[in-house]
Amino acid sequence: MKTLAKATIHSLTELDDFTKSLVSVVKPGSICLFYAEMGAGKTTFVKSFMSHLGIDSITSPTYTLINEYHSNPPVYHMDLYRLESEAAIDSLDLEYYFSQSQYLFFIEWAEKLIDINFPYISISITQQDSSRIIDVSLR
Ligand SMILES: Nc1ncnc2c1ncn2[C@@H]1O[C@H](COP(=O)(O)OP(=O)(O)OP(=O)(O)O)[C@@H](O)[C@H]1O
Ligand SMILES: [Mg+2]
Repeated sequence: MKTLAKATIHSLTELDDFTKSLVSVVKPGSICLFYAEMGAGKTTFVKSFMSHLGIDSITSPTYTLINEYHSNPPVYHMDLYRLESEAAIDSLDLEYYFSQSQYLFFIEWAEKLIDINFPYISISITQQDSSRIIDVSLR
């Protein structure tokens, strides 16, 4: 485990600065797994990150499960929250998506994944009063 970046974020402007610093760190093929409570700011993090790739608006993948962006690099933004069983997660066929190594991956509710057998970047967001501690680590 190696910490790539860590910050206490007090505003959306600070979040934008933080995600901007990650654009050169998170390379195509990187699988970023979020670990955070409900409403901690996972989708907001992706929205902020995508703004640096020239994508002005994103929507939450809570209902679509997977959103795709033809940015540079292209991005798959996924949300596992609604998948209630291991079989449901299997049916997503993550292997198929991960084989597209030109893509960058952001996955909300990675807590649902068991037996992670690939290297990934963990993004944990912890709320503390009105701020958020964001830790980005290589696992
Ligand atoms: N860094 C931040 N600064 C200020 N507000 C934020 C920040 N991050 C998130 N928020 C606010 O918190 C709320 C929830 O954010 P968001 O939807 O991104 O959370 P989430 O973790 O994706 O939630 P879910 O668990 O439902 O997927 C939104 O109103 C958003 O604007
Ligand atoms: Mg979300």
